[in-house]
Amino acid sequence: MSEEIICNCFQVSKADIVKAIREQGLKTVEEVGDATNAGCGCGGCQDEIQAILDEINK
Ligand code: FES
Repeated sequence: MSEEIICNCFQVSKADIVKAIREQGLKTVEEVGDATNAGCGCGGCQDEIQAILDEINK
């Protein structure tokens, strides 16, 4: 699993986001934000979070 940082504001990696989505059954960018803080700063990573959600929940 990739350790690349998706959210620079909170240093949240792709692996952290994928883990939260899988373990908690997250469906939306907002839920990922609540679980990991990713996307709750500048918002610039929200498209990438959505892409990860789409990949996992397709
Ligand atoms: S990079 Fe994720 S909120 Fe700014």
